Formats: sequence, C-alpha cells, structure tokens
Amino acid sequence: MKHIIKAAEMREFALKMRRARGKQPKTIGFVPTMGALHEGHMSLIEAAKRENNRVIVSIFVNPAQFAANEDLNEYPRNLKADIKKLKQAKAVTCLFTPGEAEMYPEGYASYVRVENEMTKVLCGASRPEHFKGVTTIVAKLLNIINPDRMYLGQKDLQQAVILKKMAKELNYQAEVKICPTVRGKDGLALSSRNGYLTPEQRNSAPALYKALKVAESMVELGERDAQSVIKEIRRKLKEENVEAEYVEAVDPGTMLKKEKISGKTAILAAVFVGKTRLIDNTIIDMDEWNAVKKENKEDAL
Ligand code: PAF
Repeated sequence: MKHIIKAAEMREFALKMRRARGKQPKTIGFVPTMGALHEGHMSLIEAAKRENNRVIVSIFVNPAQFAANEDLNEYPRNLKADIKKLKQAKAVTCLFTPGEAEMYPEGYASYVRVENEMTKVLCGASRPEHFKGVTTIVAKLLNIINPDRMYLGQKDLQQAVILKKMAKELNYQAEVKICPTVRGKDGLALSSRNGYLTPEQRNSAPALYKALKVAESMVELGERDAQSVIKEIRRKLKEENVEAEYVEAVDPGTMLKKEKISGKTAILAAVFVGKTRLIDNTIIDMDEWNAVKKENKEDAL
C-alpha cells in the first residue's frame, strides 16, 4: 500500500493509474474518511474493491466541518492503527493523509456549498457550517484523485445525499455510491464517535436503532402518518433517557419533510447520549415493501 501526504504527488499517482489503463480498463474507487477506522469504513473499502481495480482511501480530520464548540480536538486520531487495518485488508492501493496546511494553507478562502434546503435542515439546522466544510473537502479530494466511484455510508445519509448532488451538479466523473450502515450486534450504527461513550452510555445508545425499528413496525402495521411515527420514536427515546435533537421523516432524495409515509421515506434522527451526539436513519421503501408482501402472498398461494 502506497502512502502519500502531498496533494501534488497524489494527483500524479492517480493520473498515472488512470493512464496505465491500457487494454484492461482500470477504475479507481475512492473512500474518504476521517480515520479511526472501524468495520463501517472497512465495508466501504470492500465495496470499492469489488467494483474497481484500484482503491484509494483518504484520512483527514477536516477542521472546516467542525464548529468552534464541537469535538475537533477530541476526535480520535490513530494513524498507526488505521494503517495496520488497511494493510491487513489487502484491498487498498494507496492511502492519502494530507496535513492541515496541505489542504488549507495560510489565507485559504475557497469553499464549495450546496445552496438549498438540503443543507439547512436536520443536521444542518444545528450545524449551519458543517456541510460547507464537508462539500469543500470532498470537492478538493475529488479534484486531486478524480476517481470513478466514491463510497459513502448510509449512516450519514444527509451528507451522502448532499455529496451526490454536489458531484452531479459540479460534473465530477465519480459516481457516488451509498452503502448500507454497519451495526454492532445490538444494532448501534458503528461510528468513530461511539468511542466517546461510557460503558453505561454504550448500553443506552442502541435505543436509537430500536426506536427506528419500532417506526418500521408501525409502518408495516399500516401507520402512514409521519407525525404519529415520529411521536412514537421520541417516546421510545425518552423512555431510555436518550435526548432527541431531531426526528424527521423526509424524502431521501431531497431531505424535505414528508407528512405521509409513502413511496420512499427516510426517517432520520440525531440524539444525545450524554454529551455524545449520534445519528442514524432508516429508509422505508413502500413500493419494495408492497412488492415483497405481494411475493409472499403469491408464495403462500
Ligand atoms: O464522513 C466523514 O468521515 C467525513 O464527513 C468525510 C466525508 C470524510 C469528509 O470529511
């Protein structure tokens, strides 16, 4: 696995990879991360490996996406352990770990924004500058690497949908792939921030997943009113002493609120377990659901 820290060298290396495509086409799959790698990241790398000949992973804790009162300084950093995991996976062609001065040199002033509701709602409501930081760093990484595909996790659904829109509208060649959330045995979505939880908080954290599961069951039993589902999720969270920042039912393409659970509906939530902010979501696809029900019925006949 090659390890690069300079943007110019990374650009040159990716360019060479692409030029070397020759008779057998070579594609580049890219997984952007902030390190503290866990099974969720590794599943993105595996997906990139399955669908491409070359895999590039970046690790950069991006200061532009943290507000002054957020956890930039506490964010877990363990490059040695990350490199070990990546080498063991035997899937990564190149690791890119630029320093802060490389990505944001003195006087840096160029930012990329998706300027619509999508970035202002849900996480954007309490973290107004967050997505500007995310779109800026990912745009820079895409400019340097120019991959064929970029892999993101569904746990950060709003981020993934915003980046998909950005990549399309700014004409990046990369196709954005959103991969399933990887969970612990008790359902808690894997996140680098889970490491902040005390053992007691770690026990209550799966309440978020359980509440989303209750929402799915309500819909399965015929509930279509988004507010009733949201109310029940909030009640379940409260029961477990987990504080909800938001619980919303939205269109997964636009992140705009929905009154009814119909077609594809994403239910997203952000909660606080102690001081740790966790997010999760589920996408309910009524069309798929109805098709499965019909199939089961046909089987039963
Ligand atoms: O999801 C993350 O880890 C980050 O937001 C990303 C996409 C690597 C940009 O810094």
